[in-house]
Amino acid sequence: MKIAILGHGVVGRGVDRIVTERVEGVEVSRILELPDRLTDPRMTSNFQDIVDDPEISLVVECMGGIEPAHTFIMDALSAGKSVVTSNKAVVAEHFGEFVSQANFSHAGLYIEATCGGGIPWIASILKARRIDDISSISGIMNGTTNYIVDAMVREGADFDVVLAEAQRLGYAERDPSADIDGIDVRNKTIIASSVAFDTTCTGSIPVTGIRTLTKADLDLFESRGLSVKLLGRAVQGDGRYAAAVEPVAVPLRSLEANVPSNFNLCTLVGTTVGELKFYGQGAGSLPTGNAIVQDILDFSEGRVPHYDIDTPKQYDPTLLTSDYVI
Ligand code: HSE
Repeated sequence: MKIAILGHGVVGRGVDRIVTERVEGVEVSRILELPDRLTDPRMTSNFQDIVDDPEISLVVECMGGIEPAHTFIMDALSAGKSVVTSNKAVVAEHFGEFVSQANFSHAGLYIEATCGGGIPWIASILKARRIDDISSISGIMNGTTNYIVDAMVREGADFDVVLAEAQRLGYAERDPSADIDGIDVRNKTIIASSVAFDTTCTGSIPVTGIRTLTKADLDLFESRGLSVKLLGRAVQGDGRYAAAVEPVAVPLRSLEANVPSNFNLCTLVGTTVGELKFYGQGAGSLPTGNAIVQDILDFSEGRVPHYDIDTPKQYDPTLLTSDYVI
């Protein structure tokens, strides 16, 4: 089986390496890269070379960003090629469009690596949903904010000081806004809730990040037996749903309070299975590469994820309440 990888950055290189070294029967035959980075005979800067190659049945998108990733994914699906992507921004914005095109073209859309790093989170939602209605999903889905809040408590330092240190150590991006303003968690919450609730959840959910948290806030919560985590949460019922991203105070003895930096903890509640929690590394080239290669193997073994997006649900923010939202 021949596949193409779009983008040869940290994630794309990791996937190339794992497939080449550990997966028999799958060949990375083309890699899309910028014209000034064509360092390998498999590389091309022309996406049409990949779309027009009838031997390539699967395209693995690891570029990030909305465009041209959106156009490339649509073009690949329209050409009947299946797509694996780790790009949460483009999937959160275009999930319904991608699913419709994949169904129309009899192609597969594989999105495990968009949420929860190495945790089989989307696969677990899809599996639970075969039997249950899922009433809620939630999670700590961002390692950067976890690191910053933990370090503020541990070092007694304020937000700006810890952020600067996290950037210096490479834990936070040079432009950290997607993480600290909650956009990264918003994208993951939209994707996970769309899969869980059989609908296309909207992008315009309320989002509050951690930028305004102070050391004094955290001290006050700690004195009351509480710790602060940035949570993405979504609930549904009676044809309606709500979702939000916000810092939430959780009991110090809860599992959530004890999730360390770079780890994610995702929770779903189903009709018969009750509450399930999934814990693991939420970022990094190997956990994310592992999730992508799991999707590649699912494709090669003929397993196609099924998303039902035909049940429109009304957004109703009154469904989502909490005593502890900050
Ligand atoms: N920026 C993300 C995080 C990476 O900090 O968790 C994984 O999506």
